[in-house]
Amino acid sequence: MTAIRSSYTDSIGFFGQEDPKELAARFGTPLYVYNEKLLRQRCQDLKGLSSHPHFHVNYSAKANTNIALLRIIREEGCVVDAMSPGELAANKAAGFDEQSITYISNNISAAEMQNALDCGLLISVDSLSQLEQCGKLNVGGRVMVRFNPGIGAGHHKKVITAGKETKFGVTPDCMEQVFAILDKYSMTMTGMNQHIGSLFMQPEGYIEAAAFLLHLAEQLPPERFAQLDHIDFGGGFGIPYHKYEGEKPLDIAALGTSLHELITTWTEKTGYTGGFYIEPGRYIAAECGLLLGRVHAVKNNGENRYVGTDIGFNVLVRPAMYDSFHDIEIYRGHDASPRQPMPQTVVGNICESGDILAKNRLLPEMHEDDLVGVLDAGAYGYTMASPYNQRLRPAEVLITAQGTAQLIRRRENINDLMRGYEGLSYPSRV
Ligand code: LLP
Repeated sequence: MTAIRSSYTDSIGFFGQEDPKELAARFGTPLYVYNEKLLRQRCQDLKGLSSHPHFHVNYSAKANTNIALLRIIREEGCVVDAMSPGELAANKAAGFDEQSITYISNNISAAEMQNALDCGLLISVDSLSQLEQCGKLNVGGRVMVRFNPGIGAGHHKKVITAGKETKFGVTPDCMEQVFAILDKYSMTMTGMNQHIGSLFMQPEGYIEAAAFLLHLAEQLPPERFAQLDHIDFGGGFGIPYHKYEGEKPLDIAALGTSLHELITTWTEKTGYTGGFYIEPGRYIAAECGLLLGRVHAVKNNGENRYVGTDIGFNVLVRPAMYDSFHDIEIYRGHDASPRQPMPQTVVGNICESGDILAKNRLLPEMHEDDLVGVLDAGAYGYTMASPYNQRLRPAEVLITAQGTAQLIRRRENINDLMRGYEGLSYPSRV
């Protein structure tokens, strides 16, 4: 391949037998491209964290709900969470049964809760008010309560989900009230869970928070402790987004050693016979996904060189929303001669000046018709895409284990955008 900047994907054989130019010609851009082998590998990494017989990887589907990917994740032996009826439908379509899905809810209506109950799911509630709602709907049933351990972590304040500054979880000082509501509706608390936030690169905070949840569980009165069979430590496992700067991955071996040690010691100490769960989204889905786009225009505005692509924040919102960094590769353009690196600002085609994918990034000079590959776009990429500016959500393809590309979701079309208006009439002056 006459690539300009592609040493990372070359080194891992990301595109299999395909190449970006062919993919772009066949499926169009922008295009999400996933690698099956990498996805399977990431599931296995996490499954290997502990050999405890009741240790489970509960994939957090919000990172990526493509049904083809969910099926692979299921095949790898993970279970899955859902936090909306849409995620639940995707999980079911991928073949997960009710034993394998937990509903991790936040501020949901009675109707939505009833829908999850009708599917036979264990529901995690994260406020006394939602526990009460669950009690009314599920007298004599089971429930999981999400606690806020007071320890938060994350790459941006918008993704820290524990501590005082977040809407999530029941604080442990409300435990007596939790018991009172459980008793009022003869409910059993079979699960306890938490999620401290998204993207940690050092294991210590996660382990500390996990120990906190275990400590909380241990303090339950014995009859309540005996009912517990589901302890979920949450997700947040980070990935190295700065690949071209040699950023080190999360030390999964060290994390595994600490986590395994923690849960086995605690199991021996308490006699707990239930399951332990981790709930990763990003770690499983991010690195197997790449977003392929095309340069349509370049210009210099004063000192700034702008590279205009078809990757607007409607397609990948993370940089605009969190100032997130994604490495960028450049594939063969109209000429593949060596290019000078220069600071360039890579932007999309959305009518907002904040539509920036990479600001002043030192990259080989880019030209019209170059293809760009945005790395690590598999998590919170497509799932956060929108039809803003009435642009179409992209297609998704999978580079299968055999190395060939398979379409796993078609590109939206204008009819998809118009569907919501079908059969409606509108007021008019005449
Ligand atoms: N469990 C719960 C209850 C969560 O809220 C989340 C993520 C996860 C698990 C999975 O977290 P992960 O392992 O993926 O870090 N859109 C943001 C991330 C938001 C995460 C929301 N909750 C981003 O693009 O960075």
